Amino acid sequence: MSSGTKQHPGVILVTGGGGYVGSHTVVELLNANYAVVAIDNLSNCQVSNGKPESLNRVEKLTGKKVVFYEVDIRNKDELDRIFKMHKISNVIHFAALKSVGESTQIPLSYYENNVGGSNNLFQVMHDNGVKSLVYSSSATVYGIPLALPLTETHPTGQGCTNPYGKTKYFVEEIGKDLCSAYPDWKVVSLRYFNPVGAHPSGIIGEDPSGIPNNLMPYISQVAIGRRDFLRVFGSDYDTKDGTGVRDYIHITDLAIGHLKALEKISSPSFKGFQAFNLGTGRGYSVLEVLKAFEKASGRKVAYKLVDRRPGDIATCYSDANLAKTELNWVAEKDIDEMCRDTWNWQNNNPNGFS
Ligand code: NAD
Ligand code: UD1
Repeated sequence: MSSGTKQHPGVILVTGGGGYVGSHTVVELLNANYAVVAIDNLSNCQVSNGKPESLNRVEKLTGKKVVFYEVDIRNKDELDRIFKMHKISNVIHFAALKSVGESTQIPLSYYENNVGGSNNLFQVMHDNGVKSLVYSSSATVYGIPLALPLTETHPTGQGCTNPYGKTKYFVEEIGKDLCSAYPDWKVVSLRYFNPVGAHPSGIIGEDPSGIPNNLMPYISQVAIGRRDFLRVFGSDYDTKDGTGVRDYIHITDLAIGHLKALEKISSPSFKGFQAFNLGTGRGYSVLEVLKAFEKASGRKVAYKLVDRRPGDIATCYSDANLAKTELNWVAEKDIDEMCRDTWNWQNNNPNGFS
């Protein structure tokens, strides 16, 4: 990583900077001496003193101030004001709604926020001559895998069964069209596999509102006593132990992937649109994750085998070689560190940021 004492030229605008991936990426950006401006509409943040609590804690963690504005990416005037106030060189775009289940209930809100909001952002970037974007995408754009491991050449958009997944795919397509229309636009789309864990300090982490949908936060809430037991969704998949297999990636590895993407996109030879998988290339079953968590926490995690969750697939894991060769990035942390850091965060903050 290009950390050093010298500040990088230009300001990195981080949308959705108060969120889980955003706040962990801001830590790495500040540690590597990037100037950062974070914006967020606070729709999925605990707030204190008018700022996401995650970013107050990032300030404690890094000893640096985080420049923050409450801005909604659907509001062009507010966005334009930020671009006029700061010399922004690149945008890392996290802001989005991200619940698969909710997206099937309120699809228009997902299209308005994720697709409409991104379109607005790109228009304001274009108007202000900022044409360098790192986008938060997801393995969900691959739909049902035709072959494993998933490489970046696997078709996208086919078999995206829910509105959330489609918004991730549509925004990638907008990025490709921008790069076709304007040769000076550059877009790196990072397709995350399953981000988990927390900063090793235990000061920031994932704080889902309500009942967690995802596996790791659910397990940790069982371990801390907030939930009675984990429901294991399906035990008859064609996998090593019948439970679903995923490619879990530690959140700080994921965050560092964004710095590598910034280095790539800032190199004069980089042109157009390119997607990269961010994963470890290894799959773990639900029961393997549960056992690793029990080991890391020293707590028993009660579970019941129940029916499959509609829409789930048996197995999903990445081929992460393109990021290795092109970004000089590899995920370094293993499942034990993912569980240890999740537990450290949960144990220090039983009620998250509140
Ligand atoms: P998050 O909800 O913790 O963070 C998103 C942030 O964006 C929140 O703080 C929210 O308040 C903000 N936001 C939402 N709509 C906004 C708007 N219109 N204007 C301004 N701010 C807005 O989610 P996350 O897990 O940090 O995810 C970040 C990005 O990564 C999302 O784009 C998500 O789709 C993508 N992603 C996440 C995962 C994952 O498992 N966490 C996996 C794949 C992709
Ligand atoms: C989910 C999203 C996906 C998103 C990803 C990362 C769905 C259908 N997909 O993927 O779009 O990109 O999160 O945020 O929501 N499991 C249980 N019990 C639980 C929760 C999960 O057994 O209480 C199992 C699931 O069946 C799956 C595995 O754990 O086999 C991982 O699930 P989860 O953490 O929700 O991630 P994905 O479904 O892979």
